[in-house]
Amino acid sequence: MRDISGLIFNKYSYIIQLKILKIFSSIICYIVIRIKGIHIGKKCSFIGLTKFYRTENSRILISDRCSFRSRKTSNLIGIDRPCIFSTLMPGAELIIGEECGFSGTIIGAFKSVRLGNKVRCGANTLITDSNWHLDDPRSGFPKEIIIHDNVWLGAGAIVLKGVEIGENSVIGAGSIVTKNIPPNVIAAGNPCKVIRTIN
Ligand SMILES: CC(C)(COP(=O)(O)OP(=O)(O)OC[C@H]1O[C@@H](n2cnc3c(N)ncnc32)[C@H](O)[C@@H]1OP(=O)(O)O)[C@@H](O)C(=O)NCCC(=O)NCCS
Repeated sequence: MRDISGLIFNKYSYIIQLKILKIFSSIICYIVIRIKGIHIGKKCSFIGLTKFYRTENSRILISDRCSFRSRKTSNLIGIDRPCIFSTLMPGAELIIGEECGFSGTIIGAFKSVRLGNKVRCGANTLITDSNWHLDDPRSGFPKEIIIHDNVWLGAGAIVLKGVEIGENSVIGAGSIVTKNIPPNVIAAGNPCKVIRTIN
């Protein structure tokens, strides 16, 4: 027997709510993004409002068909916060490839953060190329981050400065990535280490 209530009052009503929210959020985000001098490609979608902050003389470039989930229930895994994308120093760059997905993801670029195509950033992930608090001598210098095509960051993963993650690799939930990760591996933990290779 078909589970009618599961279908109508859960699946379909959830999908319809998201579609309506997506239309309004995407219109608002596209307008705000253009006003802020951020380059955005075609057919990106927003559910809830993503926060963009671009420091003067820095650039944020978002390619086609990326999706941003910022509302708490826009991903059933649970999102704690809206997506926030920022460049924080003149000359900084934040470059995002095509078809990337973000759920409550925060990316802070003081120098350079580059994501390839089809990078999936799970719920509440954080990518930062700096220790922030640059006025504090204990903070050290920003170092660029490169995340290659088809990388998947599990929920709550943190990618710290100077890291490069190779193509197709998966980073486990809650991992803290402090060193480079090669392509085609599953890596996890704190500090994040390779668990196994992907065939
Ligand atoms: C990393 C991951 C993909 C590995 O999955 P898997 O291949 O099925 O691996 P297993 O569950 O068999 O675990 C393999 C080993 O890695 C360890 N491990 C798995 N995930 C880990 C994690 N996130 N942190 C630390 N260790 C982890 C396991 O304890 C196990 O260790 P052992 O061999 O000593 O017993 C998965 O655990 C994970 O974190 N997925 C992310 C899911 C997620 O966040 N999805 C939502 C995105 S919004």
